[in-house]
Amino acid sequence: MLNLGILISGRGSNMESILKSIKNKKIPINPTVVISNKTDAVGLKIAERLGIKTEVVESKGFEGSRADYDKKIISVLRKYRVTPNNGLVCLAGFMRIISPEFVKKYKNRIINIHPALLPSFTGLDSQKQALKYGVKYSGCTVHFVDAGMDTGPIIIQAVVKIKENDTEESLSKRILKEEHRIYPEAVDLIARNKIKISGRRTIIS
Ligand code: GAR
Repeated sequence: MLNLGILISGRGSNMESILKSIKNKKIPINPTVVISNKTDAVGLKIAERLGIKTEVVESKGFEGSRADYDKKIISVLRKYRVTPNNGLVCLAGFMRIISPEFVKKYKNRIINIHPALLPSFTGLDSQKQALKYGVKYSGCTVHFVDAGMDTGPIIIQAVVKIKENDTEESLSKRILKEEHRIYPEAVDLIARNKIKISGRRTIIS
């Protein structure tokens, strides 16, 4: 069984959804640690309540390079046996760019959720970007993390129709509901070794 590490920066609602689904839907994966780059991340308290070990690797004021910071994250992951061979790392609202060194070491072992239909609206404030652009549909994407920003092979997407009176808040809320559904699904597929990567495409068996 794979060991799971979840990286967060804040609210942690996707983390919560993954952890609860592992228990309720019997996803065959062993959650070992939640790591935050912020001491005050609300998600840390939720993880503790759910009985998962938590760690903070403070990024504020960290003076080394991005790769140096990620080395610290990797050493925590290793401490909890989340290794490139038997681990999966979920970025769940982890608001930092991952270094190429980390990506290379954990090749196809890091996944992320993004609140838009990639490749549209990468980066920050994706829901706001979607409204500003005037698209009629947006949604969310779970994807493998590669060296680019929000560019790795796509695992699952969910579509959300945009309403004429949507605000950033109302749209984010409907997208988040879908995030909570598809992220655990993607974790389940990986835990059951049902995903093969072929170039940019993923093939689900
Ligand atoms: C989620 O909407 C997630 O998709 C987004 O941050 C939010 C975190 O919420 N991530 C990104 O925008 C990454 N580019 P959560 O902490 O409640 O899961």
